[in-house]
Amino acid sequence: MAAPPATRPRHATYDRTDRSDARAVLAAVIQAQTEAEPLQRIERQDLNPRATVWVDELTRDPQAFALSVSRGLSTRPRQLDCRYLYDEIGSELFARITEQPEYYPTRAEAEILADHAEALAHELGDAVICELGSGTSEKTRLLLDAWSRRADGEFHYVPVDIDPVVLRGAAEDLAAHHPNLHVSGLATSYENALVRLRDVTPKALLFLGSTIGNFDPAEMDKFLRQVEAALQPGDAFLLGIDLVKDPHVLEAAYNDAAGVTERFTLNLFDRMNRELDAAIPAEAVEHVAFWNERQDQIEIYGRFRRDVRIELPDLEQSFSVERGEMVRVEVSRKFRVGPMAEALASYRLRLDRALTDADRRFALLLLRRTSEVEPGDAAG
Ligand code: TRP
Repeated sequence: MAAPPATRPRHATYDRTDRSDARAVLAAVIQAQTEAEPLQRIERQDLNPRATVWVDELTRDPQAFALSVSRGLSTRPRQLDCRYLYDEIGSELFARITEQPEYYPTRAEAEILADHAEALAHELGDAVICELGSGTSEKTRLLLDAWSRRADGEFHYVPVDIDPVVLRGAAEDLAAHHPNLHVSGLATSYENALVRLRDVTPKALLFLGSTIGNFDPAEMDKFLRQVEAALQPGDAFLLGIDLVKDPHVLEAAYNDAAGVTERFTLNLFDRMNRELDAAIPAEAVEHVAFWNERQDQIEIYGRFRRDVRIELPDLEQSFSVERGEMVRVEVSRKFRVGPMAEALASYRLRLDRALTDADRRFALLLLRRTSEVEPGDAAG
């Protein structure tokens, strides 16, 4: 799907000597690629002189959600696509999860970013910061502040998020707070964003929050191939990974006492009611999350308390779900630095440094895309 279009002008649209206008840069890149792939329509919305977002039609297509739910309920075990957790309500709830005392990953990662922001800005300061799954960009502010303090002219941030509402809010707010920052947001899938950002270089691609752990092994392989293709040699990849640790700590993080995570899970089923008229009775679903020791992953489900018929009227379909059935909404895999670095090497991503918090709960990997010709890496 993300195969490079044959007619795409290589680098022609991106002038490295003048990065003073992020809109011009991104607009040119997106324009060129939209011409090459006319089926993917994208709408440009200027928010203020230094903040623009592009919204992919993917995020505006109501059928896409219904079709995804239909697919997920037809497979066994049943599962729902986790990207649909993040509508406006879900994004808000997730932001609140990150503030819960049990949910350590955000704080651990923020600690790492705060400790190393200056060094990273020094090392990567020329790069356009591109971030997949940026959400409210809360943690990224630590980096943007450091980039901003370097103060040798303008710099660029390209947040990518599936939710156009949260993206617009973050883009406007960030531009308002940093007079030398240009924000060009992309509301689209990671896959589309990676295709569109290929010619933006030098770039530092951020993928924080251990979101990579939300992919199963096949999805992770596909994603890392897309990253490999999107990065030019020398481009940086900053990858946040949550580390394997005491199961009690892990399980608490996905079962906070205040019940915010529970509401986050249930919102996906509410969203099916709101947007698809799924007619799932209130109270029929409960949140379940536990550590799967064999697979090093937290698994999160909606469990049905009774027999329910889920309707998808637009598709003229319905699904009967039995009492006790578990519909998976998310997996969150946890990693170990050594094996992860080894796995990444086969995508021509070389580990420069692994940064961790004081309690070694979380790691931020600073990786570089190696050149085509560099010997001795990868397969090695
Ligand atoms: N990327 C987050 C994680 O894996 C997402 C997340 C946190 C999540 N809590 C959740 C997803 C609860 C579904 C349900 O940690």
